[in-house]
Formats: sequence, structure tokens, C-alpha cells
Amino acid sequence: MATQKSYFVCQNCGHKTSKWIGKCPSCNSWNSFSEEIEYKASASKKGNPNFEKDIPISITTITKTKQSRFITEFSEFDRVLGGGVVPGSVILFGGEPGIGKSTLLLQIALKINALVLYVTGEESKEQIKLRADRISKNQNENCIISTENNLEQIIEIIKETNPDLVIIDSVQTIYTEKVDSLPSSITQIRECTYELSNMARFLNIPIILVGHINKEGSLAGPKVLEHIVDVVLQFEGDKDFVYRILRAQKNRYGSVSEIGVFEMKDKGLDEIKDTSQLLINKNIEKQSGNSYGISIEGYRPFIIEVQALVSSAVYGNPQRVSNGYDYKRLNMLLAVLEKRARFKLTIKDVFINMAGGFKINDTGIDLPTIVSILSSDLNLAVPENICFCGEVGLSGEIRPVSRIEERMKEAQKIVFKKIVISQFHPANLKQPANLEIIRIKNVGELAKAVFS
Ligand code: TYD
Ligand code: MG
Repeated sequence: MATQKSYFVCQNCGHKTSKWIGKCPSCNSWNSFSEEIEYKASASKKGNPNFEKDIPISITTITKTKQSRFITEFSEFDRVLGGGVVPGSVILFGGEPGIGKSTLLLQIALKINALVLYVTGEESKEQIKLRADRISKNQNENCIISTENNLEQIIEIIKETNPDLVIIDSVQTIYTEKVDSLPSSITQIRECTYELSNMARFLNIPIILVGHINKEGSLAGPKVLEHIVDVVLQFEGDKDFVYRILRAQKNRYGSVSEIGVFEMKDKGLDEIKDTSQLLINKNIEKQSGNSYGISIEGYRPFIIEVQALVSSAVYGNPQRVSNGYDYKRLNMLLAVLEKRARFKLTIKDVFINMAGGFKINDTGIDLPTIVSILSSDLNLAVPENICFCGEVGLSGEIRPVSRIEERMKEAQKIVFKKIVISQFHPANLKQPANLEIIRIKNVGELAKAVFS
């Protein structure tokens, strides 16, 4: 018979203790423990009792089943997955509320030529229908909607309907009777995910689980779930802007360096296959403080418009504000400009913005950031048709960046005429036609190369 026991469980990482403690010894988060009751018997008897015992066999005798991946008709989504959904895989799809997770998954369900079971615990069937009508008139009649949130019933429904793909929106709203804690507690989420992944493998049906992001910006119970699922996707972007980026944080069946780019429109999300053309608004009058850089996000070179505004600080402490660019790195760049190029920026407010709401982690964007700051400070517009790629070191040197040839090729494709890169790249770089390469050693040479 099942026995009950109560624990205190860290809602961030799943660490268990018998007493309440304020700080988790495992993940160091504060106030993350809450009491949960588990039925010992069920918790230890993981998996579905109907499953048969597996017989081990020699690796040489295993035959590969030629199962093709499942194409979702959204090439950006498929690419991030490594070429489509692998049958039997479990995909955790995370993102902030309102970013467009449900919209994208419903679009997939409506467009795909397969039987899709869409289980939603967050919206009613009517709400889903309203959204579906807004997205598309041609709706896949094999897209079936359920508002069930009991895991045992969901598994029954899956067995009865035998869908090609299951979407569960969201994992926080479903619960299993095996565990006595509240829905969305870490024990419930873990148990439900575990059961569903067992079922996905057993029935060879792929499952996409939507997961909400907690206040720290990571998936609820990330450490626990990431081990159970095969793929962790993150949908990110600034809700006030239209662009969204899909990234794989973990992928057992493909690379994690791919990204997919989407634009939120009035009829749902649109794929952006050529990001470069979209970001450049050629109608904008050339103004000081703007420059272009080529970043590499995943495997794709990506044009970034860096905007800067430098103005005299009116109140006491100068302000430094950064949108989409690492704040500490901005301070470092300002210190380098002050010390190595003698620009007096300590008494100035500096605002940096990556246009389009993108968040950039690529150090190759240091150089265009510095150019934008100088351009705004000097009130001189950066000449047209020039772009920048380079990392800035503490001694003011411009350092080489990865995959420069791909970045140069992209620059040429976007019809830039010149690219400023580090002097320290190899001399024999493959130079695209009609693209002049300007090599510089340090920030001191930058102003001369750009503004004279
Ligand atoms: P939603 O998919 O509900 O987000 P999530 O599931 O990640 O919480 O997205 C809701 C937002 O998307 C909402 O602010 C409205 C916007 N939206 C559009 O702009 N266009 C559309 O066609 C749809 C369906 C939603
Ligand atoms: Mg949603």
C-alpha cells in the first residue's frame, strides 16, 4: 500500500530535505522550498506498469529503423530541431508568458498534414477556436483539441486517438493522481514529464511540452526536466518588439547552435528566412550613433543595427543603459575608450540599443558598438555601406572573431562595400568580390578609419 511522506522540495532544482530551509544548498536559490506530499509507492514505481520488460541485446544486432523525421511545415522550427521532429522524442518548449508559444504550436497543428492532439489546460476550446480563426482559414481537420488536465486521462486519450504528434500546453497545468502535491509543483511537473516521456518512447509518438519560465528567466524546475526530455527549446524576444528567436538549449538529435527567427504579426508568427534584408531600413535618414555589425547566432550570420546615444549627463551620476547588449561589457568598452583612445565619456550618459529587440552575446559586436558610441559622441554619421566585426580587448586591441569569412560573405550579400575587421586575422582570407576589407589594430585607429 502506498505510504505518505512529506518533504520540502526546492521548486527550482528539485532538491529534497526533510525540514524547511531558507536557502537551497544545491542551487543557492532563496525561499524556494515548499512542502510536498508524495506517495512513496507510486513515486518509486516510475513508468507505466503496462510496459513490458526490456530484453537487452548486443549492439551489433540492433537494426536501425528507418524512421524519417516529422516535418512541421515550419522550416525555422524544423531546422532548430535538427531537421524535424524525431518520432518518440520529448521536446520541452519554454518561454515567457505572452511570447507566442501557444500561437506557434497552434499554427504548426493547423498547418501540418497529420493527426495532432493539442491538449490545453490554459484556454477553453472556444478560445482556441478564436485564435485558430485568426491564424488561418484553412485548418487541419485532423487537429483535435482537448482541455483535459489529468495525466492518466491524457494518456488514455493518446492511446485512443493514436495521434502523430501531441502538444501539451502547458506542463504546469497537468497533474497526476500518483503524486499528491499541487499542479505546477516540481514533484507534479517531474512525475508528469517522466510518465509522458515513457509513453512517448513506448508508443513512438513525439510530444511537445510547453513550459513556463520562472521569475529568474529559466524554465520551472529546469535541472530536473532537462535530464528527462530530449530537446529543450527556448522561445525568446522582447514582447514589445515583433521579432522572436527560437533556440535549442539541449538537443539529443541535432546541434544546439541553430536558431530560428520569427516575426509576430496579426495572423500569428511568420518565419524570417532572410533576416538581413529585414533589419536594414534604407529609408531612414543617416544619423549619427548608428552602425551595422555582422553577428553569428547559431550557424547564421546575422546583421545587427547598433544604436547609441551619448549625451552630457545632466544629473550627478552619468547613466549607462543597455538594451540587448551585456551591461558589464558596455562599461568595459567605455573604460577602454576612455583609457586607450582618450575619449572623455565619464561625464556623459550612454544609451545602447540593439535594434529590433535582439539580445546579442557575440563579442564580434563590440566593434560596431564602439563605432556607434563614437559616432554619437562626435555627432558624425557613419558612412553608408560600411559594417564592422571585431572583439575589443582591454588594451584597446581589435581581436579576431570566429567565422569571419562567413560574416564577410553576408556583408557582401547585404551590399555593404566595406567591412572593418581585426588586423590579426590571417592574411589569406577569402575575400568576397566588391567588398573592401579594412584591417585595424586598435581603437585608436578606428576613428581615423571610419570618420576621416
Ligand atoms: P501566446 O501564444 O498566447 O503566448 P504564450 O503561449 O507564450 O503565453 O501569445 C500571445 C501574444 O501574441 C498576445 O500578446 C497577442 C499576440 N498575438 C499576435 O500578435 N498575433 C496573433 O495572431 C496572435 C494569435 C497572437
Ligand atoms: Mg500559452
